[in-house]
Amino acid sequence: MKFQEMVTVVAQEEISAGIFSMWIQTENIASESKAGQFISLYCNDGSRILPRPISICEVDKENKRLRIVYRVAGKGTAEFSQYGVGQTIKVIGPLGNGYTLKEDAALLIAGGIGIPPMVQTAKELKAMGVDVNIAVGYRNSDTFLVAELEKYGKVYIATEDGSVGTKGNVIDAIKANNIDAKVIYSCGPTPMLRGVKNFANEVGMEAQISLEEKMACGIGACLACVCKSKEVDHHSNVNNKRICKDGPVFDANEVEL
Ligand code: FES
Repeated sequence: MKFQEMVTVVAQEEISAGIFSMWIQTENIASESKAGQFISLYCNDGSRILPRPISICEVDKENKRLRIVYRVAGKGTAEFSQYGVGQTIKVIGPLGNGYTLKEDAALLIAGGIGIPPMVQTAKELKAMGVDVNIAVGYRNSDTFLVAELEKYGKVYIATEDGSVGTKGNVIDAIKANNIDAKVIYSCGPTPMLRGVKNFANEVGMEAQISLEEKMACGIGACLACVCKSKEVDHHSNVNNKRICKDGPVFDANEVEL
C-alpha cells in the first residue's frame, strides 16, 4: 500500500561531500516500508513538477520515521539539501518492490549512492538471523555510512584510489577477502551491476539487483526508466519493464544491463 503525505524534516546533515542524510516524520509511509523500496519527494518550488525518487536508507517503524541519504545531483536535490528541521515535503511512498530477503548467507554489494539502501537491507537480514557480509565501493577515503553498516554485518571496503581497504572495485574486494555467501543484494551504478551479475553467474550465487539509478519521476509518468527484460509481457507483447513500477529490484538474469 502506498500513501501520499506531507512529511516533516526532523534532522538533516551533510555526511560526506555533497551527500546528505535526512530523517523525515511520516504518518503511514514508514510503517509500510521495507528494504530496497524508495519514496518520491516533490519540490516546494512549483517550477519543478516531477517528484524525485530517493531510496530508503533506514526505517524506524516505532517512531514512524524514515531516513534517506542522497547525493545533490540537480536543482531538486539541491533544494532538498537546503531544508531545515520543521520543513514539510509532499511525499509518495513506499514505492517499488524492494528486495526479497532470504534465510541464506547474504552478500550485500553496493557502490556510491547505491550504498544507502544497504543499511536497511543489512538491518532486516540481521534481525532474521542471517550471516551478513557487505562489500562497499567508494572513490576515495571520503566514505559514508560505514559505521551504520558495521552494526549489522562484516564490512569490506574497496576504493578506486586504494586509500581505504582494497584498491579497485567491489568485486576485487570480494575476491581478495574470499567472501562466500548464497544470495547477493546489490545497488549501484550500471557498470558495477554488470560486474555483479557476471560474478554471481561465475560463482553460482543468486543476485537481486536494484536499478534505481535509472529512475527519473519514480511514479510511472515519464517512461525514462524503461529497461529490457528477458521475459515478454503477455499483455503488450513487449519485453520492456518500467524500473519504477516493476522494480527497482530485479533478478540479475531477468534484465539486460
Ligand atoms: Fe518515470 Fe519510471 S521513472 S516512468
